[in-house]
Amino acid sequence: EHRFAQFKLVLLGESAVGKSSIVQRFVKDSFSDFRESTIGAAFLTQTVDLDANTTVKFEIWDTAGQERYRSLASIYYRNAQAALVVYDITQESSLDKAKYWIKELQKQARGGIIIALVGNKTDLEQERKVSSEEAESFAKGLGLLYFEVSAKSGTGVRECFKQIALKMPIE
Ligand code: GTP
Ligand code: MG
Repeated sequence: EHRFAQFKLVLLGESAVGKSSIVQRFVKDSFSDFRESTIGAAFLTQTVDLDANTTVKFEIWDTAGQERYRSLASIYYRNAQAALVVYDITQESSLDKAKYWIKELQKQARGGIIIALVGNKTDLEQERKVSSEEAESFAKGLGLLYFEVSAKSGTGVRECFKQIALKMPIE
């Protein structure tokens, strides 16, 4: 018998870290160097096959990172069962913003929410400002998942969603 489950997933993080680009890579397997900043939030869905008879569907809320939308975020994370908190490995300040969102989720989101800290833009390794060790030890210290990805090259993106799917409670 085929098992099917769907879960609400939210993306949070500073503007321009690449949230929409990660979603575009995951949903459409494409990338654009000239992507418009998200207004409000965008909704997309995508499925992941965990094995021959298990499918997980993600209902994805891609939030807007610009400061003026900050107060809207709780509408999208309130019912989320998983969250990707994204930072840009070339922007130190974006990790501080990620830490802010993680704190917010731990205070306000559903109990049991699966949270992943995701460092994006690994294709820009030569411009890296945040070490993998620093971010990973922060994430692991809080019991969060940790991934580094590149929406541009695609490296790590599917694996990140698959690992989250594996953590979801499927009957
Ligand atoms: P907001 O919607 O404003 O919150 O931004 P966002 O987090 O959705 O960022 P978006 O996906 O719009 O990407 C911002 C910029 O970074 C765009 O110019 C993208 O092309 C670029 N970008 C996104 N991901 C990557 C990546 O993995 N590598 C590189 N080099 N650029 C990326
Ligand atoms: Mg966006």
